[in-house]
Amino acid sequence: MQSLDSFIAGLPKAELHLHIEGTLEPELMFALAARNKVALPYGSVDELRAAYDFGNLQDFLDLYYQGTAVLQTERDFYDLTYAYLEKARADNVLHAEIFFDPQAHTDRGVPFATVIDGLDRACRDAQATLGISSKLIMCFLRHLDQAAARKTLDQALVHKHRIVAVGLDSSEVGHPPSKFRQVFARARDAGFLAVAHAGEEGPAEYVQEALDLLRVRRIDHGNRALDDPALVNRLAAEGMPLTVCPLSNLKLCVVDDMMQHPLKRMLDADLMVTVNSDDPAYFGGYVNANYRAVQQALNLDRDDLVTLARNSFEASFLEPAEIAALNGKLADYLATTPG
Ligand code: ADE
Ligand code: ZN
Repeated sequence: MQSLDSFIAGLPKAELHLHIEGTLEPELMFALAARNKVALPYGSVDELRAAYDFGNLQDFLDLYYQGTAVLQTERDFYDLTYAYLEKARADNVLHAEIFFDPQAHTDRGVPFATVIDGLDRACRDAQATLGISSKLIMCFLRHLDQAAARKTLDQALVHKHRIVAVGLDSSEVGHPPSKFRQVFARARDAGFLAVAHAGEEGPAEYVQEALDLLRVRRIDHGNRALDDPALVNRLAAEGMPLTVCPLSNLKLCVVDDMMQHPLKRMLDADLMVTVNSDDPAYFGGYVNANYRAVQQALNLDRDDLVTLARNSFEASFLEPAEIAALNGKLADYLATTPG
């Protein structure tokens, strides 16, 4: 009988909610600042890390956008992405679906092509050298207007083959999914799948809007959906995946205590939940740390952990045959792992 920590470590899994800009570790931030001659308002890595004390989502976003200033060249985006994929592979992530925020870069004068070229090259190299597959999801910043999102979509069209879906992130409250209805329709018509952050800080109605107006294939977070029992029933009946991020929820005060995290209630309500790291450089851990945190706080058993891993494959945007292959790797792991 092995410990559940080592079971988690070896468990094959996918990560479906990960902002590449949120993987910018302080050490890399300082290295890129030196490389690009960007002044940072912190004297040291320790001083920067000490600032990671957030009262809510906006506190975090202010630092997160400030940090992106060091990302300037194709090589910077490559280094950032490759470093994440190495860490993910070490956590036995076999497939990652990675968010990026083009507007956080294009609004600073970095061309869209510079961003996507670096991300895409790292993804291809990591597939070849580490054996991890990945897809890219382009998010619109919801605190900006729909016209800006539309301009970003237009820039993305020539790169369509490198981007699987559009998403919606940044400051949630006051920026409902309905604000982006037309641009999502246009993106879907162009062949992009859709996802959206909803119900992280915003109400259950935002989750409903994301389903009905944006026609999303997954809800990112979705915690507040639990406030509405009819919505929970609908999410369960539709098998709608939720990409839940436990350490993020704790750091951003979405939950006060990990023992109060809704993940177990979500599993008990037959929701298709997955566990993810969101912005691991800021929230204290990569995907396995998130699995460990909920396992301990909510007393999850081995079957719960297997359900979470299986859900991560089923909820991915891979082809059915690719999902079947990953489920096969999971079955091999279970067959050879005692306990
Ligand atoms: N951008 C990066 N992380 C985010 C989060 N947790 N919620 C909304 N926008 C984000
Ligand atoms: Zn997120």
